[in-house]
Amino acid sequence: MSQWREKRVLVTGGSQGLGFSIARAFGKQGAKVILWARDSERLRTAVERLHEDQIEASYETVDVLDATAVNEGMQAIEKHYGRLDVLVNAVGKSTRIPLGEASLETYQEFMRLNFETAVQCSLTAMPLLEKTGGHLVNIGSLSSKTAWPYMAPYTASKFALAGFTQQCRLEGPSNVHTMLVCPGPIRRTDAGSRYARDGSNVPQSAAKPGGGAPVKGLSPERVANLIVRGCQRRTAELILPAWLRCLFSVSACSASLGDWILKQVAPQSK
Ligand SMILES: NC(=O)c1ccc[n+]([C@@H]2O[C@H](COP(=O)([O-])OP(=O)(O)OC[C@H]3O[C@@H](n4cnc5c(N)ncnc54)[C@H](OP(=O)(O)O)[C@@H]3O)[C@@H](O)[C@H]2O)c1
Repeated sequence: MSQWREKRVLVTGGSQGLGFSIARAFGKQGAKVILWARDSERLRTAVERLHEDQIEASYETVDVLDATAVNEGMQAIEKHYGRLDVLVNAVGKSTRIPLGEASLETYQEFMRLNFETAVQCSLTAMPLLEKTGGHLVNIGSLSSKTAWPYMAPYTASKFALAGFTQQCRLEGPSNVHTMLVCPGPIRRTDAGSRYARDGSNVPQSAAKPGGGAPVKGLSPERVANLIVRGCQRRTAELILPAWLRCLFSVSACSASLGDWILKQVAPQSK
């Protein structure tokens, strides 16, 4: 019998993209999933798709930027289901903008959405996760591990998320498993067109998935299945593709050598 049967999994940003794939992967293992996002129509459609796969799923319209809504949403989970076994913080967005054109307001916007909301949801869920000895999963990015041209506000917010996640591992309740997931670009139908070139001096190549990094797109299903397996094994960190760990190790030993390697393959400014 799957260890996930009867377990409750909350996925923020679960109505589409990677969040939806993660919800489905846990659901296929027998978990009961709860999706949070803002657009109720998209949430309803997502839950219907999960029901078609015989997955028990529900949704709540929660804007994670709203601390009161997050608190109320978490209280509702405790009241209705009596437990929470996994929180996946998947809400997040990226951008493409030259370093010199990103305003302080842009940094603040990305810190709010990609970092502060995950902190808020994690802190609110922690007492519930402690009761079940559950799992906190924060969806970072390769941008949690390395900078990349034209992605400064995203990189800053995802590095902050990595720091917070490690802090939870070291200092959080010892029975709660905490995992940072750092995926490269994920395959999707709109992958080539979704990032508007926010600044006027962004080269075409930087608007590509992964900011034009020479990394093959990952299958969302594979990433989601690895996340479920990572929870089963109580893995601390997932870097995908795994070979990039070598580059990050080089950068950790010699920042200038790491930067030199990155500059050989990064998109060049106009
Ligand atoms: N896509 C990639 O290639 C890639 C690569 C590496 C890492 N990641 C990370 O993976 C995560 C998911 O990325 P994705 O591209 O799959 O996302 P996505 O398709 O853009 O979906 C974002 C989800 O978050 C929800 N959302 C956005 N703002 C919200 C808010 N304020 N409150 C509640 N829900 C909100 C959206 O629904 P509503 O708009 O209805 O609220 C949607 O369900 C992000 O953290 C991203 O940084 C993605």
